[in-house]
Amino acid sequence: MPLLISLLRLLPPELAHSIALNSLNLFYALGLSKFLFPMPVNADSFIYKNLTFNNRLGIAAGLDKNGDYIDSLGSLGFGFIEVGTITPLAQPGNPKPRIFRFFKQKAIINKLGFNNKGLDYLVQKLKSRKFSGILGVNIGANKDSEGQKRIDDYVECFNKVSPYADYITVNISSPNTPNLRALHSRENFEPLFAALKVTRATSHFMNPVFIKLSPDESQETIIDIINAIKEYEFDGIIASNTTTDHTALAGRQDSKVAGGLSGRPLFSKSNELLQSIHQHDPNLIKIGVGGVFTFRDFNQKLESGASLVQIYTSFIYEGPGIVSKLLN
Ligand SMILES: Cc1cc2nc3c(=O)[nH]c(=O)nc-3n(C[C@H](O)[C@H](O)[C@H](O)COP(=O)(O)O)c2cc1C
Repeated sequence: MPLLISLLRLLPPELAHSIALNSLNLFYALGLSKFLFPMPVNADSFIYKNLTFNNRLGIAAGLDKNGDYIDSLGSLGFGFIEVGTITPLAQPGNPKPRIFRFFKQKAIINKLGFNNKGLDYLVQKLKSRKFSGILGVNIGANKDSEGQKRIDDYVECFNKVSPYADYITVNISSPNTPNLRALHSRENFEPLFAALKVTRATSHFMNPVFIKLSPDESQETIIDIINAIKEYEFDGIIASNTTTDHTALAGRQDSKVAGGLSGRPLFSKSNELLQSIHQHDPNLIKIGVGGVFTFRDFNQKLESGASLVQIYTSFIYEGPGIVSKLLN
């Protein structure tokens, strides 16, 4: 496996991503996953509402945007999987190149821009999955949707995925869709949250709803949004999405590219956000994500107030072995 990962590093990022995940699907179809990637032992489960997470480690949104790899990712031993971000209509995302790897810094900058195959495609994948663990769906709006249309996009996604989702994440924090992060301000989030509250009630969706936050907002904005999450009776937050602050990569010419930075350099920043939310409201459910590469990092997220932890970049750099490294 380390050899395969080293070879994948030589390929362009999106090609490597596709080869790696299609290989996982192949191993799964051949019944090899359980031999190649033994399930973690000693994992601590977590129960919230009617959901039992077999362990506290999940795969973050963006890795499997369209639900193409749910069963094979599930076979690696994750306690939960989050698919998406999905938008009502399929869209190509930004022009390539749009993923940049920084191996030494264990970081990635991406400016994908919600490339996905659209809501109807994902719903078919949700319906046909065999994975029986916890599955979250991360929802967003199409790039060209503005004003009320943008709210309608979230509502449409919510309505169509709710029969098949164990939880829904409302993504207001991708830096790669114009003005999306403006949804962190009260004048913009209030109409969205109000519409989703009604949609949740009419669709009888009793499972959790999380809001995924940016790590680049002021303390005041975060407190305002936390209060709103309680006001609109959502369950918790995911902290955090990628950061637009690239100072950790200073000196690298290619770090000047626009996009969201993830991986090791995001660890402290996303932890600080998590801690400040936890101080403000210890009872809100928190999913910690950002820069987790070691068992120590994983525990630090839990100690900072997270009940659950997600990874993305470390999975790209280390492959499926990261699951037992973090859980055993
Ligand atoms: C290539 C790439 C694509 C991503 N796409 C999404 C996405 O579609 N929706 C989302 O909410 N987060 C997305 N993220 C953010 C991750 O879910 C996660 O919040 C972030 O990368 C921090 O975790 P990490 O440091 O473990 O990678 C993406 C991240 C990367 C690197």
